[in-house]
Amino acid sequence: MPFSIVQGDITEMKVDAIVNAANNSLLGGGGVDGCIHRAAGPELVKECATLNGCDTGDAKITGAYRLPCKHVIHTVGPIWEGGGYGEEALLTSCYRRSLQLAAENGCSSVAFPLISAGVYGYPKDQAVRVAKETITKFLKEDRDLDVYLVIYDKRDYEVMVGHV
Ligand code: AR6
Repeated sequence: MPFSIVQGDITEMKVDAIVNAANNSLLGGGGVDGCIHRAAGPELVKECATLNGCDTGDAKITGAYRLPCKHVIHTVGPIWEGGGYGEEALLTSCYRRSLQLAAENGCSSVAFPLISAGVYGYPKDQAVRVAKETITKFLKEDRDLDVYLVIYDKRDYEVMVGHV
């Protein structure tokens, strides 16, 4: 099975690419974005500053600097506004565009955080469903990619895998 849900810190994943849940500026922030920039070092924000930001639902790729992976794919998830503002389509697009970029850049493994499920307020159960559905669909088209969904919070992970 090339898709697994794991518990841990995405900055420690030894994969070809990790995905960052960024904002439109791509210039860093809190949450997983802050963790990734801290672990990568100051060169990452310098490269991000050359990219002219990123639209919600889109993704851009950079080097990984001091991280153990090779690339960072920065995607911008939707801010949850109740579900009637195209949030699901935008979140689906984040996973799809990131997977496409990983494949185009020769990656054989990629790790995602739960995009939009922190500061951006997307309900976690729905965010997990969108992640699973989009990743599974993509893998039916491109089988050469190992994909990890990295759940940071231990309790969230336990609930998700069904042993509370
Ligand atoms: N490894 C894996 N997952 C993590 C880590 C980590 N080290 N740290 C946090 N998470 P969030 P968003 C989880 O808020 O909702 C930033 O300021 C976290 O538990 O990081 O897309 C950006 O600059 C949650 O489940 O991203 C944007 O402004 C998930 O990552 C904004 O936050 C996403 O939470 C983006 O908000």
